[in-house]
Amino acid sequence: MKLNTNYLGLALDNPLVIGASPYCDSTYIAQQLQDSGAAAIVMRSLFEEQIDAEQRALVHHVEGSADSNAEALSYFPSYSEYQLTPDHYLRQLDQLKKAVSIPVIASLNGCRPGGWTDYARRFEIAGADAVELNLYQLVTDPTVPGDQVEADMLETVRSVAAAVRIPISVKLSPFHTSPVHFCAALENAGAAGVVLFNRFYQPDFNLEDLEVFPQLKLSDPTELLLRLRWLAIVSPHLRGSISATGGVHSTEDIIKALLAGAHTVQLVSVVLKNGPRFVATLLAGLKNWLVDHGYDSVEQLRGTMNLCRCPDPAAFERANYIKILQSWKV
Ligand SMILES: Cc1cc2nc3c(=O)[nH]c(=O)nc-3n(C[C@H](O)[C@H](O)[C@H](O)COP(=O)(O)O)c2cc1C
Repeated sequence: MKLNTNYLGLALDNPLVIGASPYCDSTYIAQQLQDSGAAAIVMRSLFEEQIDAEQRALVHHVEGSADSNAEALSYFPSYSEYQLTPDHYLRQLDQLKKAVSIPVIASLNGCRPGGWTDYARRFEIAGADAVELNLYQLVTDPTVPGDQVEADMLETVRSVAAAVRIPISVKLSPFHTSPVHFCAALENAGAAGVVLFNRFYQPDFNLEDLEVFPQLKLSDPTELLLRLRWLAIVSPHLRGSISATGGVHSTEDIIKALLAGAHTVQLVSVVLKNGPRFVATLLAGLKNWLVDHGYDSVEQLRGTMNLCRCPDPAAFERANYIKILQSWKV
């Protein structure tokens, strides 16, 4: 059974990638994940704000300048609250490269062009096999139009792509007006692949003290459905790679993502819930399913349910929405 897949030009033994998370903070756990069959690992992100803060601190130190942006920045974690400082991140990347033989993907998180994108080059020098650029953004400024947001994102991708020779993937949110067009534009800007989709950690209201509080809830498999639809719609149009993140919890979820066109699936919540060894269970399940259903390889299965190849493409489109609403009778 050939489980291998090509992701961002990297030859992976199978499609199971550990998504960006605290797992790579420990080389010991990274080794456990590799031993359990993970084909690649993504480090947690280094954030634009974190790099900017370091660079500002340096300028402050050298020039003694006042921080004009201090109020806006006070909402972000203080420098010491980030788990890995930029220097520590590069050292951890170096350690991981020595500890495991599977590809290590470093993650940069930000969306506006700026000096912080230079870190992609430092990741490359420290041995990263690829960079995952997470464009997570929440636009709350009413004066900023959507096309400006996407133009900034594309410029950011161009500057990261120009800084490195290793491949870059772009992790996106689902809230783009025309996702297929935007993914193609990301490829033209230098991305070797896209990762669909970021999860949004929705804050809740506390009714007693009328405060908004952030919360981190792990995903559940219902979140995969949004990914499946867009994987199926986007994948036929891309030259590069596509990875699914969000709601992959079982062997069946992995198979669905592959059928929709993913080259890899990223696992985080499922591993946080069940432990690193669960990767081996998922991998064995994938192998068994492919054998039982007469497939010789992952490649043979991949994309066979995408928008161009599935028997009922309308199921992904507006027609399905209308049909579903009409089907409910009282
Ligand atoms: C504790 C935790 C930390 C995470 N840190 C990052 C991060 O630093 N960068 C990033 O791009 N995604 C991060 N993520 C998001 C995951 O990579 C992933 O996209 C998301 O959890 C959805 O996948 P899942 O359903 O398998 O959990 C984090 C998720 C969790 C649960």
